[in-house]
Amino acid sequence: MLSREDNELLTRTGPGTPMGALVRQYWIPVVLSSELVAGGRVKRVQLLGERLIAFRAKRGRPGLVGEFCPHRLASLYFGRVEEAGMRCVYHGWKFGMDGRCLEMPNEPPGSGFASKIRHVGYPCEEAGGMIWAYMGPASPPPPIPHLEWTLLPDSHSFASKRVQECNWFQAMEGGIDSSHISFLHAPLDPGDAEVTRALDLASFGVGSAVQTADRAPRFEVKST
Ligand code: FES
Repeated sequence: MLSREDNELLTRTGPGTPMGALVRQYWIPVVLSSELVAGGRVKRVQLLGERLIAFRAKRGRPGLVGEFCPHRLASLYFGRVEEAGMRCVYHGWKFGMDGRCLEMPNEPPGSGFASKIRHVGYPCEEAGGMIWAYMGPASPPPPIPHLEWTLLPDSHSFASKRVQECNWFQAMEGGIDSSHISFLHAPLDPGDAEVTRALDLASFGVGSAVQTADRAPRFEVKST
């Protein structure tokens, strides 16, 4: 069982936290590719404690910007998706995919103030049916890793997502706690085909996948 201090250290991932700095070194899946249409509605997302807006610009490129406009904090959820960026509906400031302020129509011509404004804008890539973002400090960002399943043709891959109302560590603890599988996802009587079928339906086929008598598995950990 984690101490309260270790739990805080491991599960706080907002800006400026040690774990936040660690996970920001990696590309992170944001939304499914199918959720964003070029020039269509945006999606609100919260990643690593940051409130963000995911969108697909009219030219098709995915983008991820901070939700709140740096001018007067209007939500870009109500913003307008344009050719290569988003425009705030409040006073019309336009932000590019990288967060640069490209237009500031409520300033006098030639004021140059737009060049002083930099909004949150994270690089995005598309792979494996998902849109990924890099939220770390490296510029340019590291290349997105070529995970084998992201290189397969559409006919050979399937992407889905679900919401888990818990922090990442709780999800991980549940996922690798393999002794629960033989109880929660399998019939107590391994020969009970009817219960196995029902469990398969309820838990994505895990029931029949765990026809094992080993209900007290032991872990071996390999450093990689
Ligand atoms: S609040 Fe966004 S442009 Fe003013």
